[in-house]
Amino acid sequence: MSKTAVLLFILLSATAVTVPAAESEATVKARVDKLLSQMTLDEKIGQLAQVGGLAFLPDAPKPEEAIRKGQAGSILWVSDAARINKLQKMAMEETRLKIPLIFGLDVIHGYRTIFPMPLAMAASWDMGMIERVQAVAAREARASGISWTFAPMVDIARDPRWGRLVEGAGEDPYLGAAVARAQVRGFQGTDVSSPDRMLACAKHFAGYGAADGGRDYDSAYIPEEQMWNVYLPPFQAAREAGVATFMAAYMDLNDVPATGNRFLLQDVLRKAWKFDGFVVSDAFSVRDLTTHGFARDAKDAAFRAFTAGVNMDMASGVYQAHLAALVKEGKVPTATIDAAVRPILAAKFRLGLFEHPYVDEARAQRMVGAAEHRKAAREAAQRSAVLLRNEGGALPLAKDPAKTIAVIGPLGDAKRDLLTMWSGFDLDPSKTVTIVEGIRGKGARVEFAQGVQIAKTYSSMFDQMVGGPQPKAWTPEQADAEFRKAVELANRADVVVLAMGELALMSAELASQSSLEFPGRQRELMEAVAATSNPVVLVMLNGRPLNLVWASRHIPAILEVWHPGTEGGNAVADLLFGDANPGGKLPVSWPRDAGQIPIYYAHNLTHQPETAAGFQSRYWDQPSKPLYPFGHGLSYSKFAVSNLRLAAEAVKLGGTLEVMADVENTSSRDGDEVVQLYIHQKAGKASRPVRQLKGFERVALKAGEKKTVWFTLGKAELSYWSGQDRAWIEETESFDLWVGTDSDARLHAGFRVVP
Ligand code: NOJ
Repeated sequence: MSKTAVLLFILLSATAVTVPAAESEATVKARVDKLLSQMTLDEKIGQLAQVGGLAFLPDAPKPEEAIRKGQAGSILWVSDAARINKLQKMAMEETRLKIPLIFGLDVIHGYRTIFPMPLAMAASWDMGMIERVQAVAAREARASGISWTFAPMVDIARDPRWGRLVEGAGEDPYLGAAVARAQVRGFQGTDVSSPDRMLACAKHFAGYGAADGGRDYDSAYIPEEQMWNVYLPPFQAAREAGVATFMAAYMDLNDVPATGNRFLLQDVLRKAWKFDGFVVSDAFSVRDLTTHGFARDAKDAAFRAFTAGVNMDMASGVYQAHLAALVKEGKVPTATIDAAVRPILAAKFRLGLFEHPYVDEARAQRMVGAAEHRKAAREAAQRSAVLLRNEGGALPLAKDPAKTIAVIGPLGDAKRDLLTMWSGFDLDPSKTVTIVEGIRGKGARVEFAQGVQIAKTYSSMFDQMVGGPQPKAWTPEQADAEFRKAVELANRADVVVLAMGELALMSAELASQSSLEFPGRQRELMEAVAATSNPVVLVMLNGRPLNLVWASRHIPAILEVWHPGTEGGNAVADLLFGDANPGGKLPVSWPRDAGQIPIYYAHNLTHQPETAAGFQSRYWDQPSKPLYPFGHGLSYSKFAVSNLRLAAEAVKLGGTLEVMADVENTSSRDGDEVVQLYIHQKAGKASRPVRQLKGFERVALKAGEKKTVWFTLGKAELSYWSGQDRAWIEETESFDLWVGTDSDARLHAGFRVVP
């Protein structure tokens, strides 16, 4: 455990509020039965409605009105403790059965203390850290009355044009599953009645990341093989980790909207995985079944979503408007209404909301943004950074107060853009430490020039909602003057730190891009600055890979820090000066440009692979390989992985195989390496990907230290879903195995699975 983790642990234990032990499941069931027996049909339907606390739509029901009428089981988009208490009081004092509300919010990477964006946290490959920070997020949110987060977002995404890549764990199902488990553990702990924990929600079920063309909400066409082997595993991992709820996705999956998709909601979730929690729709997605051209009208939409298995209607009011009529007409049996309400009531009992419906606003004030939480955020941002390139040891920078560091670029002194989508409502970005502030904090002499202004071409509702007022656009003359000022500064300074990438809302919901070029005149500025004779390092703040082909040839050091959160500037300064050592690894293959999309390392071989002589499947204008492979990331230390050994050459079907390798820090600086294990099944009932990640460990090594890393391959790692058998199978076949520090790992061995 790191020092911060220990401190955090002590703090969490010391200030925990005493609550009664969690209710037994038998008690929960008895309480649900009793309550349900007293409820009218309308009261039951009220529990199935989640009402928005923001006036998104002119005709949206006001939460106050809906609560008083017993037409709300849950409220979303309200984040302030005082308002939550007020609304809860209405439910507890003005309704007949006094059923508390569940307040849900997108706490995806922190509530007030904002951690790095989720994709960045996946880049840490540090599951302990992810669990710890999501526990902090849960602690702040629950203290403020939010007892349900719409996270983790576990959508696999292999298309960086899609803006929501930022919210997930990247392209790989194995890493994605590990991150999903860690997040569920962090949010929920072992007892959600604890005042530090909250319900989690695995979203968006399922296939949202495969949107056509990377356009948000667009249709996904995913064959069954890909569904089971790639897109579903992180959801299944969340399920196995005990996630309390699922959220149905927006898009059409194979022509059937996920919100009305019986394959997903019945066959997979309820039948195959025996999920007994509840499913919430995405916002307005029940209503929108008509827009898809799937439901005839709103009533039909209610019928289809409800009978497919969506328990709770998020924000569209369609269940509220039509379910009662559907019951009266005999189209929806009362028993299915009861079955849908049960897990919602059970969740409220498990959370302890009936006993503790209110929060202590003073405690919430003390809790949010606590110093220990900020320490955790700083460490998380350090651990999420990925050093993409470091020619000639350009980084770390020497600490020399006599030298001037020029911070140049639109993100150098930005606060809001260090955070990303869903960085809390009512969030005060002034609490965020910018890169300039972080570097200044090291006692360095810093000068800043923004150089260029960047903006999205089209705006979305989120710009207003979470982006705050947009800065005034520069005139062309101003833009030229600012550009020149930045280049002059670069000439004058001793070292240049370019802070470039994307505004926070460029990678988000409703923020897809057709191009991976740096927005605005950033590339031009990068070239002008690189043409000066001073050393230049590029710090990247972005939610998706951008085109780094030019930079990867001309800028000696590239440090990817993503949108690093509240403590981003301090963490960046720690990394730049070597007070922290980068150890993150890419959770995505980094394409050269958008023309390579979709690109992922776990592809199948063609009949004429790129390495073959003669005909080859490849582009004529550039390599098929990404610029940086999945799993890539450098460190200020040097590591060597050696001595790969397998406990046996053959493993029996269903058995396990131990794999070991040594990893040594061959440098004089302490650091972390992520040792990764990949396999390839050489033949079978299906062509299998050239490589698949099946084990990893982030190892901390002191200078000169050597450790042995152990992996176990068992049925879970050696099986796959066969389209021919329509079942999970493990085959008696030969396998390749590699261990190394990215998906191009070279250390190789072979083994067989035998009867
Ligand atoms: C829409 C998004 O797709 C989903 O991720 C989010 O949880 C809901 N809105 C609620 O904010």
